[in-house]
Amino acid sequence: MYQRKKKQSNLSLSETIGNLSKKLPMSSTFLRIRILSPSLKSFILILSIVLNIYLLLSHWYLYALESEISRAAVSPTARQHLLFAIASSSLSWPRRESYVRLWYSPNSTRAFAFLDRPVLNPSSSLGDIPPVVISGDTSKFPYTFRGGLKSAIRVARVVKEVVDRNESDVRWFVFGDDDTVFFVDNLVNTLSKYDHDEWFYIGSNSESYEQNVKYSFNMAFGGGGFAISHSLATVLARVLDSCLMRYGHLYGSDSRIFSCLAELGVGLTREPGFHQVDMRGSLFGMLTAHPLSPLVSLHHLDAAEPIFPGMNRTLALEHLFEAVNVDPTRILQQTVCYDRSSSLTFSIAWGFAIQVLEGNELLPDLLSMQRTFTPWRRSANIDASHFMFNMREYPRDPCKRPIIFFLQSVTSDQHGILSDYTRHIDGKCLSDATKNLKRIRVFSGKLDLDVEQMKAPRRQCCNVLVSFNESVIINIRQCGMDELIAVHV
Ligand SMILES: *[C@@H]1O[C@H](CO)[C@@H](O)[C@H](O)[C@H]1NC(C)=O
Ligand SMILES: *[C@@H]1O[C@H](CO)[C@@H](O)[C@H](O)[C@H]1NC(C)=O
Ligand SMILES: *[C@@H]1O[C@H](CO)[C@@H](O)[C@H](O)[C@H]1NC(C)=O
Ligand SMILES: *[C@@H]1O[C@H](CO)[C@@H](O)[C@H](O)[C@H]1NC(C)=O
Repeated sequence: MYQRKKKQSNLSLSETIGNLSKKLPMSSTFLRIRILSPSLKSFILILSIVLNIYLLLSHWYLYALESEISRAAVSPTARQHLLFAIASSSLSWPRRESYVRLWYSPNSTRAFAFLDRPVLNPSSSLGDIPPVVISGDTSKFPYTFRGGLKSAIRVARVVKEVVDRNESDVRWFVFGDDDTVFFVDNLVNTLSKYDHDEWFYIGSNSESYEQNVKYSFNMAFGGGGFAISHSLATVLARVLDSCLMRYGHLYGSDSRIFSCLAELGVGLTREPGFHQVDMRGSLFGMLTAHPLSPLVSLHHLDAAEPIFPGMNRTLALEHLFEAVNVDPTRILQQTVCYDRSSSLTFSIAWGFAIQVLEGNELLPDLLSMQRTFTPWRRSANIDASHFMFNMREYPRDPCKRPIIFFLQSVTSDQHGILSDYTRHIDGKCLSDATKNLKRIRVFSGKLDLDVEQMKAPRRQCCNVLVSFNESVIINIRQCGMDELIAVHV
C-alpha cells in the first residue's frame, strides 16, 4: 500500500516536470510575451522561473516527506515496538521474578509489571526486572463469579492502564502472567506478519478441550499471553470500563478482554506458538513435537516437572535459554532423519532433546505428541479426547521408549551452530545398535525467516553425516525442492 502510494507521487512529480517543460517554451503564453514590453517580458519570465522552482521544490519536499513516513511505517517490527504488561501481585512477584528474568532485558525489552500493592522486600537486583506499576482502584466494578478471584478485574484493566501511559512508538501491547515465559524474538517475528495499524487480537486457546468448552475456543488464554495491535488497544482502552460493568459474572481477566473485543466485533487470530500449558507432569511429549510456528510462550511451568532431568525449574529453563539465545527461531523445531545402515530414526527437537528410535518411523507418526503429561484438572479423565491435539502413547516400559539425548551445550561461530546432546540413562535396556551411543552432535545454520517464510514455513531436513561407535554427527539444512523426509528404499 505504501509502495503504491510512493509510486503515485513519483509519477505525479515526473508528470509535473513533463507538463512544465511542455508548456514553457512553446505555449501561447510564450507568444503573448513577445508582444509585451521587454522589461515586463523579463519580469514575467523571472516570475515564471521562480514559480517553477518553487513548484519543483515543494513537490520534492512533499515527496521526501511522504517517503519518510512510509519508510517509518514499513520498517520491520523490532523488540522495542513491543510493550509487555505483566499481571502479577505483591505475593507472587518475588517468586515469579526468576521467570521474567529469563526473557526480559532492560536494554531491549519494554515491560511493566502490574501489582496490587508494593512488594514488602523488593529484590536487590532491580535493574534486570521490569519496573513495577501499582494498579488503580477497581472496587466499583462488579464480580459475581462464585469461588473466583476478584483480582480478575484488576488484571483485565491492565490493558487500559498500560495503553493510558501513552508510551511512544508502541506497535503491539503484549499481555501475560508473571509465570509466562516469552520467547521475545519469536514473538517479534510472529507479530511482524501482521499490520499493527489494523485491529488484531493474537494468541491461542487452551490445549485442554475441557477448558476451551468452559471459556471459549476463540479466546486467547491469558497465561499463554496475547498481543493486541496498537490501533485496537487504543480503542479497547476507551471502552473497557463499560464492558467490565457488564461481565461481572465471568471468571477470569482473559474472558473479560475476550468479551469486550467480541463486542467491538473483533475475533482471535490464532498463533500456535503461544502455549497456555494447561497440563501437568512431564512436558517432554509436547516440547518434542512443536508445530512449525516458532515457540512464542510457555506458561504454568510451576505445575510441570523441570524440563531437563537433574535440574530445578529455574536452572532447566536457563539451560533451554542457552540455546534460545543462540538461535531463537529454531528452538524446539522438529527435524527427522534416518540412518539406513543402522536402521535408526533420529527425531530432533532443536535445543532441547533428540530421540533415537529403532527402525524407520514414518514422519507423520513422529509429529503427534507422546502423552507424557496429565490434564490440568487433576480429576479429569485422561482419554484421547481431553487435549486439542493428536497424541500417541508414551510406553510405560522404558525399554519400549525412544532413547533420549538431552541438550548439553550450544556453541556458535561464523561457520554455524553446534549443539551437543548427551544420553539420558533410564533403564538398562539397550540394543546392539545403540548400546554404545552416548553423544549426538548437531550442526545447523542460524534459522532466519523473513515475513514471507514465516507465513509459509517448511520443515527442514537433516542428514546423519557420521555414525561412530559412540557418537553421531547430524547436519540440519534446508530440504531440496522435491525432497521428502522419509527413508528411500
Ligand atoms: C545494557 O546496556 C548497558 C549500557 O550500554 C551495558 O552496560 C549493559 O551491560 C547492558 N546490559 C545487558 C543485559 O545487555
Ligand atoms: C495520555 O494522553 C491522554 C490524551 O492526550 C491524556 O489525557 C493523559 O493524561 C495522558 N496520560 C499520561 C500518563 O500522560
Ligand atoms: C536451583 O538450583 C540452583 C543450583 O543448584 C540454585 O542456586 C537455585 O537456588 C535453585 N533454585 C531453586 C528455585 O531452588
Ligand atoms: C565401541 O565403544 C565401546 C565402549 O567404549 C568399546 O568397548 C568398543 O570396543 C568400541 N567398538 C568399536 C568397534 O570401536
